[in-house]
Amino acid sequence: MTTYRIAPSILSADFARLGEEVKDVIAAGADWIHFDVMDNHYVPNLTFGPMICQALKPHAKTPDGVAVPIDVHLMIEPVDALAGAFIDAGADLVSFHPDASTHVHRSVQAIKAKGAKAGLVFNPAEPLDVLDWVIDDIDLILIMSVNPGFGGQGFIDSALRKIEAARKRIEASGKDIRLEVDGGIKADNIRRVADAGADTFVAGSAIFGQSDYSQVIERMRAALR
Ligand code: DX5
Ligand code: ZN
Repeated sequence: MTTYRIAPSILSADFARLGEEVKDVIAAGADWIHFDVMDNHYVPNLTFGPMICQALKPHAKTPDGVAVPIDVHLMIEPVDALAGAFIDAGADLVSFHPDASTHVHRSVQAIKAKGAKAGLVFNPAEPLDVLDWVIDDIDLILIMSVNPGFGGQGFIDSALRKIEAARKRIEASGKDIRLEVDGGIKADNIRRVADAGADTFVAGSAIFGQSDYSQVIERMRAALR
């Protein structure tokens, strides 16, 4: 049985009330908090850095005090210096785009050496080839189903084939690797994405665009059951 995880992206949250938004979405059933870091260089947008991550860390727990993982998605170039800063700021998982790092293997090792889980992110037009050489070292594969940079875009269907291909690679590796999908996920397409092989779902506008977060998350879970 697959354990599905829902990772709301706070990119679509109310930035004036981020701590409360994190608490509210966790109380509504979020499994992870997805934290989108953009540098206006690798992607044409600018969001938040390690200081915001550190400020949110104490809020990333359930009402009973159980820590909820912070899933940092780096859309920055270069990767290494800030990856470490995010781990110091409380990131539990750090994912980066292989085309943004000159030495992918070294970046993965550096993340793991600091005690976080490491993930690789693949843009819509990017092949999975780099996995030939690093799949044994990573904890997560993140398939982009939109071009990175903005929330609220439409799901790109070719991501489904890439999810299937990534699932095959995970099975062949025999490793415990999460397969996450990011972009355009809603309650009415999440089932298709899960059927293609994904187990972890980022959703920004679909959740924060509604007033009742628990209702959306429950609709997503119902679609996954
Ligand atoms: C896009 C980000 C996403 C974004 C998804 O570059 O990586 O995490 O928040 O937003 P939605 O769910 O609205 O497509
Ligand atoms: Zn993201």
